Amino acid sequence: MCGIVGYVGHRRALDVVVEALRRMEYRGYDSAGIAILDGQGGLAVERKAGRLSNLEAELDEIGEEHFTGTAGMGHTRWATHGRPTDRNAHPHRDASGKVAVVHNGIIENFAPLREELEKSGVELASDTDTEVAVHLVARAYEEGPTAGNFVDSARSVLRRLEGAFTLVFAHADHPGTIVAARRSTPLVVGVGDGEMFIASDVAAFIEFTREAVELGQDQVVVITEDSYTVTDFDGNSEVDTRPFTIDWDLAAAEKGGHDYFMLKEIEEQPAAVADTLRGHFVDGRIVLDEQRLSDQELRDIDKVFVVACGSSYHSGLVAKYAIEHWTRLPVEVELASEFRYRDPVLDRSTLVVAISQSGETADTLEAVRHAKDQKARVLAVCNTNGAQIPREADAVLYTRTGPEIGVASTKAFLAQMAANYLVGLALAQARGTKYPDEVAREYQDLAAMPEKIAELLTGMDPVRALARELSDSPAVLFLGRHVGYPVALEGALKLKELAYMHAEGFAAGELKHGPIALIEDGLPVIVVMPSPKGRAVLHSKLLSNIREIQARGAVTVVIAEEGDETVRPFADHLFEIPSAPSLLQPLLSTVPLQVFAAEVAQSRGYDVDKPRNLAKSVTVE
Ligand code: M6R
Repeated sequence: MCGIVGYVGHRRALDVVVEALRRMEYRGYDSAGIAILDGQGGLAVERKAGRLSNLEAELDEIGEEHFTGTAGMGHTRWATHGRPTDRNAHPHRDASGKVAVVHNGIIENFAPLREELEKSGVELASDTDTEVAVHLVARAYEEGPTAGNFVDSARSVLRRLEGAFTLVFAHADHPGTIVAARRSTPLVVGVGDGEMFIASDVAAFIEFTREAVELGQDQVVVITEDSYTVTDFDGNSEVDTRPFTIDWDLAAAEKGGHDYFMLKEIEEQPAAVADTLRGHFVDGRIVLDEQRLSDQELRDIDKVFVVACGSSYHSGLVAKYAIEHWTRLPVEVELASEFRYRDPVLDRSTLVVAISQSGETADTLEAVRHAKDQKARVLAVCNTNGAQIPREADAVLYTRTGPEIGVASTKAFLAQMAANYLVGLALAQARGTKYPDEVAREYQDLAAMPEKIAELLTGMDPVRALARELSDSPAVLFLGRHVGYPVALEGALKLKELAYMHAEGFAAGELKHGPIALIEDGLPVIVVMPSPKGRAVLHSKLLSNIREIQARGAVTVVIAEEGDETVRPFADHLFEIPSAPSLLQPLLSTVPLQVFAAEVAQSRGYDVDKPRNLAKSVTVE
C-alpha cells in the first residue's frame, strides 16, 4: 500500500527521496511527504495531499535550499485511517518537531495508545493511527530507561504496537541514523557504497545499488552511511536476514517511450511469459527449481486449493481447468479473503497454491498462514523475490516479469497463468497422470505461446478504435465459458478499475438465469469464444448465446480464434486471436481485453497507471 523510503549517505537526500517516491508512487498516491535531516539539529518536513507532483510543486515554491542534508525519508500514502488531507499525510512529527515517522500498514491498538497520550497531555494533530508512534518514541527518548537512546526508544515502542506495519523513524539529534522496523509489511535494505537505503520496494534504490537485504518478521534495522544493523524488537542481533542481488535494472522500472507503465507492461507480455517458463523444462522433465516440495510430497497430495485476490484469483480460476484436467485432482479456487473465515477442510495432503504478484497481499498472506497452521503444503506463485508470502510458503515458483508498476495487473497476470500451467504439469508428471511425452507436448504448446502473444499484440489498433467508439457506454458485459469465463471476469475487472465503467463478467451458460435481463439496445457485450475445434460443443452453445443477445439489441464484440467463420455473421465486431490449445487460450484472449480497457480509460481522460482509490499492493485486510 504506502511506499516508504529512508536514506543515509553522501548525496543530497532530497533528490534521492523524491526520486524514490516517484518510483513507488504506484503503491499509493493519496498524499506524499518527506523529512530531511540537515545534520545540524534540524528536521525539515513537507507533505501534501494528492499526487507526488503536488508535493514537488510545493517544494519548488519553498525552495530546495530549505532541504539540505544527506539523510532523510519519504512516504507516498494510501489512506487507511483519516482522509487523504495535508494534515493526515506522512511524515508525522512529535510536539518538539525533532522526531518524525512514516508508516505503512495499520497499528491496530492505536486507539488505547492515543487515549494514553491524550491523558498525559499530548495533542495529536492528525486522524491517523500512525501518529501515536512518533509521540511514544519522543516520550521514550525524553524519559525512562531508554532516555537519550534513539534506537532503544524506538524498539521499546515497537514492542507495544499491534498490527501490521513498516515504520521508519528519524531524529533531528541523530542525523546520521535512520531506524526502521517491519511486521508483516515489506521493507528491504539497499546496501550502497558509503550510502544505505531502506524502502518498501527495491525500485526505490535500483538506480544506486543492486545489493539488497531482505528482512524477516519483527525486525529492526538501523542504517548509517556505512552500516546496517538488524536486530529483533528486543535488540537481539541473532536474526535471520537474506542478502540478494536484484536481477533487473533501472531500465525495467522506466516507461521506455510509453505514456504509461501499463502500456509498456502489456507489450512486455511475450517476454514475461517466456521468462517465466525459461529453465523449467530440462531433459524432457518439468523442473520447478525454486520448489522445496519433493516428488513424493506432490504424489501424496489429494486435493488442491488455489487462494488469491483480484486478477491473481482469476489466474487461479484458469488454473483449475488445467490442473484438474491434467492431474485428476480436485481443485478449489477461493478468494483469499474468504478462505480462512469458512474453516476449509485442509490437511497434510492438501496443496494450497497461493498466487500473488506482490507477495504482500494481506488476505493471501493470512490464507497461507491459516493453511500452514492446518499442516497443508503451501506453494507460492509470486513475482516479488523474497516477499513475505514466498518466505512463509513451503515452496515457491517465481513469475519473472520484472517490476510491474501499473496498478492494474497485466504481464503479471499472464505470467501467473504460465506459472500455474507449470504447476499443473509438474503435478501430472510427479503423479504419473500424464506420460512423459504428453507432458513434453503440453510444455511445447506452452512454450509456443509467447510468439503468439507477440503476433496478437501487433494487431491491436482495431481494438483501440472500438474502445474509443464505445468509451461513452454506461456499461459493458463480458461472457465466456470454460477457461473463457475467468477471462470474462478479468476483462470486466480491468474495465472497472481503469475506466470506472460498470462492467460484469458472466459464465455464458448463466445468461438465461438472470443476466439476459440486462441486455438492451446498444449495450456492448464482449464474448470470449472457445475454439471451434477444441471445444466444439461449447462453441455452438456460445454461438446460440450470441444470437440471443444480438436479437435483444446488444452490440456483440467477439474474440474468436482465427479462421472461425461461423461466428462472423453474429459479431458486430470481431477480433481474431491465433489458434492455440483450448486450455492455453486465456494467454491470448485476455490481451485484447486489457488493451480495450486501457484505451477506454484513456479516452475518458484517466491515468491508467494510477486508478483512483487503488493501490498496487493491498497490505491491509
Ligand atoms: O499482488 P497480488 O497479486 O496479491 O494482488 C492481488 C490483487 O490486488 C490484484 O490482482 C488487483 O486485483 C489488481 N489491481 C488487478 O488489476
